Amino acid sequence: MRVSKKVDQLAPSGIRAFFDLVLGMKDVISLGVGEPDFVTPWHVRQAAINSLEQGFTSYTSNKGMLELRREITAFVHKRHGLSYDPEEEILITVGVSEALDLAMRAVLNPGEKILIPSPCYVAYGPVVELAGGVPVLLPTSLDSGFKITPAQVDAAAKGAKGILFNYPCNPTGASYTKAELQALAKLFKQHDLLVVSDEIYDELTYDFEHTAFPSLPEMRERTVYLNGFSKAHAMTGFRIGYACGPRDIIEAMTKIHQYTMLCVPITGQMAAIEALKSGLKDVHSMKKEYHRRRDFMVEALNGLGLKCHLPQGAFYVFPSVKSTGETSMDFAKHVLAQQKVALVPGVAFGDSFVDHVRISYASSFDNLKEAAVRIKTYLKKR
Ligand SMILES: Cc1ncc(COP(=O)(O)O)c(C=O)c1O
Repeated sequence: MRVSKKVDQLAPSGIRAFFDLVLGMKDVISLGVGEPDFVTPWHVRQAAINSLEQGFTSYTSNKGMLELRREITAFVHKRHGLSYDPEEEILITVGVSEALDLAMRAVLNPGEKILIPSPCYVAYGPVVELAGGVPVLLPTSLDSGFKITPAQVDAAAKGAKGILFNYPCNPTGASYTKAELQALAKLFKQHDLLVVSDEIYDELTYDFEHTAFPSLPEMRERTVYLNGFSKAHAMTGFRIGYACGPRDIIEAMTKIHQYTMLCVPITGQMAAIEALKSGLKDVHSMKKEYHRRRDFMVEALNGLGLKCHLPQGAFYVFPSVKSTGETSMDFAKHVLAQQKVALVPGVAFGDSFVDHVRISYASSFDNLKEAAVRIKTYLKKR
């Protein structure tokens, strides 16, 4: 076989497999993709255009432009009270996607275990496996608000090297209060776990203030903090993420990045500088709209008998379709075929989520209202 065993055995993304069905269908309301429906704010696009006009077409430093790293240092300090040296403790990456891969490859030796709360972003298991590690899933459920508990960490942590953690969470939208994070942090310290904290949805937190994990006492030195511009800044296509962390780990990640990526494209970096310099006004107006949509979707779904917890952040809801008597795969296939609404079956996020579907509300309010009507029609007609 020409393909390596490791890659051959990797399961393809369940989201992609399902969305191949959507391709070629007309008038589908797609609530499947995890991507803002907003276009990047104009002044940010303009900064990218200007940079090209001015001839900024070269490589940058492997770690990313120092000006961008300085902006990130200032931003995370002001926003979360974090202190990172822009020269040694920050790396600009091709989205948080690359940062996840680099973090795992930088820290894992073959066979080492990484705890992952489940359900989780579809890339988590694969990036751990590709780095030679072993993912150990910590299942959550509707009853626990899709949050892990300190007791769960305590029971699973023996022999684990670290935890790969995301809040607000894709696909559930669950997030943690400061007090909940403090209780988890205590356990992470007790078990000497390294923490990779993916906080890409932090600015989209609706019900309480987001707490950055490394801002908690004694967590900075054991945490690699990941964030980026794709979600809150509506900049998925610019592919800009960043990792902040202790210098030994950032140095190790940079080593891999410089041989595999060399650097992140300069145009996106210049756009990201503009996004940070201009403050959070655009982010806040998009957040306001997501918040309105969240409230609408949760109420609509519960009203249809599809039990749905109130997610605290991101732009996903994760209702149960158990009351329909169908598996989420059948439910999603039928709603797509009969009512042309695309949802992601929960099994894409793990076998235990056979009763759930992920619905993204990064779609216009009109689309969401129409989707709710179509789902209602499907449930009535069955
Ligand atoms: C939890 C989470 N982490 C990382 C990513 C990747 O984002 P990026 O566009 O920064 O690579 C996503 C994208 O959906 C995500 O949901």
